[in-house]
Amino acid sequence: MTTGSAAIRQEPPVKSCPPGPQGGGLTGDLREFTADRLGTLSRWAREYGDLVSARFGPRRILFVNHPDLVEEVLVHQNRKLIKHYRLRQAKRTLGEGLLTSEGDFWRAQRKLVQPAFHREKIAGFAELMVDYALRLVGTWGEGRELDVQAEMMRLTLQIVAKALFGADVGGESADVTAAMETLMHNFEASSALPIIIPQWVPTPSNLRTGAAIRRLNRVLYRIIAERRKDGEDRGDLLSMLLQAQDEESGRRMTDRQLRDECMTLFLAGHETTANTLSWAWYLLAKHPEAAAQLREELEKVLGGRRPTLADLPRLPYTEGVVNESLRLYPPAWIVGREAAEPIELGGYRVDRGTTLFLAACAIHRDPRWFDDPDAFRPERWAGGFQQRIPRYAYFPFGGGPRICIGNSFAQMEVALVIASIVPRYRLELAPSARVEPLASMTLRMTHGLVMRVERLAR
Ligand code: HEM
Repeated sequence: MTTGSAAIRQEPPVKSCPPGPQGGGLTGDLREFTADRLGTLSRWAREYGDLVSARFGPRRILFVNHPDLVEEVLVHQNRKLIKHYRLRQAKRTLGEGLLTSEGDFWRAQRKLVQPAFHREKIAGFAELMVDYALRLVGTWGEGRELDVQAEMMRLTLQIVAKALFGADVGGESADVTAAMETLMHNFEASSALPIIIPQWVPTPSNLRTGAAIRRLNRVLYRIIAERRKDGEDRGDLLSMLLQAQDEESGRRMTDRQLRDECMTLFLAGHETTANTLSWAWYLLAKHPEAAAQLREELEKVLGGRRPTLADLPRLPYTEGVVNESLRLYPPAWIVGREAAEPIELGGYRVDRGTTLFLAACAIHRDPRWFDDPDAFRPERWAGGFQQRIPRYAYFPFGGGPRICIGNSFAQMEVALVIASIVPRYRLELAPSARVEPLASMTLRMTHGLVMRVERLAR
């Protein structure tokens, strides 16, 4: 006889495979996906629902399109998951830094690095963010056309280098930028391939990647060695990392660990922020009424002076612009994981080795959570909007234990750079501008962002 409680305990059967496209051949659904990654993700979400199964070459991929399932992955089942195969590839560059390491090693490193990113610690970087933004626009003169994506990349690279290492990377900065670009470019090219070519195979791309890593290593190890020698606390992130010590074991980081964390912070900390800024400039140029409202808020609160960290709480529209840019064009357009053991997700069995892609770019534009989801409306964030949507309907910085460590740093940087530039310059799309999203390692623009910058009369 079945008792009432047994009947209640009966769970729905776990199903084996969610619906999805059925691409055949060697590459499966990879070709359709690579041809238009953002468009395909939205289409698959519409056609197949909250959990979509696809095949990329030999790999089974599940695309996750619902906030509750995102929470399940990032928070509740986090311990059963590891970073996905593409990110593991990045270990060649990032080593065992925070972004790529796993398990107890990651936990110990996160504990050591976290204090350097506490609010009061990073508050000290606000002034240098404004300094660098103003120094950059100082080179723009009265008005001309330039690639604002490249300018933002230069700016955020300088800011993160200064925050990390104090002294400018200076004479080596062109070398560092070129090496970073090589790494990004080769990573992008390899992600369109159905298989991963091992790094020891001497393809031109692997050789270029190796040379770029050696160039960056030279710079990083030189800086670390100089710091160890002079032992001075310069108040930058590297000083904090050098001093960081595990409370129980007394352990400090080795040169190799310092190198891996610096490389990770350097890479993770500039391209994403530059993209956010570039998309914000693009969206503001496309929406002159929003740009005018932003300028009005900044004029009212700042009255022509430099912005400071203390001003940010009084700039809600500016915050709305940042949030809306991150919503429509999340730099981390997918967040990936791999099942290290079998799990259950949304009523489906997920086998060990399955890749999970959390589709921020699709969820952020889902009409279930956002009215008129493709519209740029900074004012939607007013009045506690974020508290009224599901927690993971908006997750530009990921979530759970592996949430972006630079989250507050980045939000402060984007807001301060915008608040420094908008009162001084008008940025308009140049007639020749061709803006197309490029969903690569991060979400940037294929042809850059050619804009006409014009100094405003004060
Ligand atoms: C708008 C700018 C940024 C965006 C959108 C962003 C986004 C993200 C996301 C989504 C993750 C989670 C990845 C995952 O779970 O697999 C992440 C992790 C990380 N981010 Fe950011 N990030 C930004 C800026 C920064 C900055 C400025 C820094 C450092 C200065 C930084 C350092 C890191 C690190 C170290 C991790 C790995 C954390 C861990 O696993 O412990 N990020 N970021």
